[in-house]
Amino acid sequence: MFPPNIILTGFMGTGKSSVGRLIATSTGRAFVDSDQLIVERADRSIADIFEVEGELHFRRMESDFAREYSGRRGLVIATGGRLMLDPLNALLLGKDAIVVCLTAAPEDILARLAGDDERRPLLETPDPASRIRRLLEERSAGYGQYPQVDTSGKSVQEVAAEITALVDEAVASGRRSTTLTSRISVSHPGGQYTVFVGRGLLPEVGLDPELPGPAALVTDNTVGPLYQNCLRSVDLRATVTIAAGEKHKSLDSIRVIYDHLLAAGIDRQGAIVSLGGGVIGDMAGFAAASFMRGIAFLPCPTTVLAMVDASVGGKTGVDLPQGKNLVGAFKQPAAVVADLNTLKTLPGAEFAAGMAEVVKHGLISGEHLLARIESGSWSERRLRPDDNLQTLIVEAILVKRDVVQDDPFEAGRRRILNLGHTFAHAIERVSNYGVPHGRAVAVGLVAAAALSAELGHCPRELPQRISDLLVNLTLPVTIPTGLSPDALLAAMQSDKKMAAGKLNFVLLRNVGDVFVTDDVPAPAVELILDQLTA
Ligand SMILES: NC(=O)c1ccc[n+]([C@@H]2O[C@H](COP(=O)([O-])OP(=O)(O)OC[C@H]3O[C@@H](n4cnc5c(N)ncnc54)[C@H](O)[C@@H]3O)[C@@H](O)[C@H]2O)c1
Ligand SMILES: [Zn+2]
Repeated sequence: MFPPNIILTGFMGTGKSSVGRLIATSTGRAFVDSDQLIVERADRSIADIFEVEGELHFRRMESDFAREYSGRRGLVIATGGRLMLDPLNALLLGKDAIVVCLTAAPEDILARLAGDDERRPLLETPDPASRIRRLLEERSAGYGQYPQVDTSGKSVQEVAAEITALVDEAVASGRRSTTLTSRISVSHPGGQYTVFVGRGLLPEVGLDPELPGPAALVTDNTVGPLYQNCLRSVDLRATVTIAAGEKHKSLDSIRVIYDHLLAAGIDRQGAIVSLGGGVIGDMAGFAAASFMRGIAFLPCPTTVLAMVDASVGGKTGVDLPQGKNLVGAFKQPAAVVADLNTLKTLPGAEFAAGMAEVVKHGLISGEHLLARIESGSWSERRLRPDDNLQTLIVEAILVKRDVVQDDPFEAGRRRILNLGHTFAHAIERVSNYGVPHGRAVAVGLVAAAALSAELGHCPRELPQRISDLLVNLTLPVTIPTGLSPDALLAAMQSDKKMAAGKLNFVLLRNVGDVFVTDDVPAPAVELILDQLTA
């Protein structure tokens, strides 16, 4: 067995490279410096990469580095200042590694940087000292997840010795990694929250300061008995158990939640913790948004769908007899805790349903996520601990995160998340909600791709590729028997997403390239509906 990799992270000017080189020599590991490697490969300086290709391109090179080196052992890796703050990079490089963050006082950083002649694009400003302080502030949560070694006033040898001692201690204690929990930061107009993704997280809910005071738990009668006892660190004053199922996502249930909150004496300083799938999360979030004009909300999603979709983005609500999700509010959570261990008991059909939304996120984001889905037998991964499942969920959440951050109130771009959903909603409605959402989305994704190909927007092979992938995930790819194309078309035409009498679709130009259009002739839609009716 190789010794674990040692990863050094931290702000520029904290000495990652010189310290790393020394530790590599003294512990017999090979040394790699991500910045240096990127510079060599690009054959230009980082400042030039920023200037010519842009920062985004540099971040992509960093992600490629993380992917490439995630499988290698026996290394000391000095990483660029932001590399390990990206949750996916952290997950890839951090497994079986000891990650240490070097810190220094802002004045020391400035003095050290003044001594070298490399250009630092992030500091090209009239007042670099305040820029350093601001960047340190911004990154404090990210760096804070790693053990810290202060380098101010210490020699390279002293810092290296301190880190080596820390590593020895971690190895002796059998601690495998410091980064197995992924932290995804989501910004919204009112601030920021973190989505935690990992295993065994439920017992830790309540230990961090996200919950301001006593809380009520909202769960359903399937999930509650399985996992509510894990929430032992939360100051729980009440538990509200709602019967499982979409038909209970109603105003009646909201009223039951209010009754329990009042009886337990929850006031404006209180909070709601939810434990369950999207149904529970949507309801609990709406109750939290409205009770006493809003109390804190911390969802613990327990389905794939709720982890990658429902619990990120702030939409909450309930159904009315007249239709789904007709009443609701935007409510940003205080934090989201996705404990992957809960997925072990999730029925296979529910797991697959959530994977339909993961495929949707793959089609929106690009080849990388889609190829990852294609390469896995995900249902097995649900049952045994496997970093790949975590990586998949993290990647899928990042897609939703990026879209909702751009468009928090669904004014425009966020509509691309409705890929496949115009068809899916029609299938759900015409089947009288007999076809579950995820299964309807699977058919909808194939339909959206087929329609895109029919209209000449995307390659002819794409619908087949998507269909193969969904079949592998045990999802349907044709319209269930008994649903007539005419009824489906009529349902689409009365969908609330129809703007000014025109059918609104999200179509594909290719994987990673989706767009919203109302320029879709009805005959083309009918043709696709006929084709997909078995
Ligand atoms: N707010 C949003 O942005 C958003 C986005 C997408 C979907 N949604 C909503 O999410 C809902 C669907 O969510 P869902 O698919 O999670 O359904 P769900 O909450 O009904 O859960 C599915 C079933 O699995 C059970 N279950 C959940 N977790 C389990 C576990 N770990 N082990 C065993 N059983 C478990 C539940 O009891 C339920 O019977 C819909 O109401 C939809 O409108 C909301
Ligand atoms: Zn959906």
